[in-house]
Amino acid sequence: MANFEKMLVAFFIFAIAPSIVLVDATFSDSMYLTWGLQHASLQADNLSLVLDQNSGSAAQTKIPYLFGSFESRIKLVPGNSAGTVTAYYLSSTGNKHDEIDFEFLGNISGQPYIIHTNVFTQGNGSREQQFYPWFDPTADFHNYTIHWNPTEIVWYVDSIPIRVFRNYQSAGIAYPNQQGMSLYTSLWNADGWATRGGLVKINWSGAPFIARYNQFRARACPFNGPASINQCAANIPSNWWTSPLYKQLGYASLGQLNWVRSNYMIYDYCKDTKRFNGQLPPECYKQQF
Ligand SMILES: *[C@@H]1O[C@H](CO)[C@@H](O)[C@H](O)[C@H]1NC(C)=O
Repeated sequence: MANFEKMLVAFFIFAIAPSIVLVDATFSDSMYLTWGLQHASLQADNLSLVLDQNSGSAAQTKIPYLFGSFESRIKLVPGNSAGTVTAYYLSSTGNKHDEIDFEFLGNISGQPYIIHTNVFTQGNGSREQQFYPWFDPTADFHNYTIHWNPTEIVWYVDSIPIRVFRNYQSAGIAYPNQQGMSLYTSLWNADGWATRGGLVKINWSGAPFIARYNQFRARACPFNGPASINQCAANIPSNWWTSPLYKQLGYASLGQLNWVRSNYMIYDYCKDTKRFNGQLPPECYKQQF
């Protein structure tokens, strides 16, 4: 295309989509380190979080978002990672906060990690689902994606959906759609609960522990206060996450989800009748995916 034509196209796109909402930037463009600066590193498209006896480390996005997709490739702490937790999650701030979690609970060498997921709405969590990975998450990078739109949240591992949380606001069940959330990553000492429920402690002779992240992409709607609540949910082409395509998983994806649930799921709050004294949280009685 000639330059003039390119300019015309650019002008046209800008004219029909006055609010450019797509963000597509590298780690170092979109995040900053917040903890453990002395040993963590954030360069170009690579983030390394380090945990030693002095401190863990953490990074977060510079801005909050409302809806979109957040993906990163992550290579978890290898070897004896018992007691460590590597996290990748969205969270708002304040006491009625929303949160969507991926947490990776380490283990002693040769024993499986746990992929721990949860969702908080208006400050309430207790919606854990846990899975064993079907691969060694420390041998290589794997893609972990949180997809969040007005109708559902989907957690993906290497493009395979492992969990869905649907919007049942019409039935009085809170859904995260009013508060912007930032994306956080962290690596810390959680040996009070992470491995075999806290039985296995960190072995510091293996320190420093390192978790590596790369290719972070937030294709998401920047949250700029209350006006964004309607803007980011508006059913317009530039809000790609509102497309009917993303309202429910397709047939093939549902098949993958069921494969993960039947072979790798190790905990589902919606099956834990004992914990909830026989009365499960209301969304557990709805169609879940
Ligand atoms: C660690 O390994 C033990 C034994 O195989 C297993 O029961 C546990 O679920 C594994 N993962 C974590 C994070 O505790």
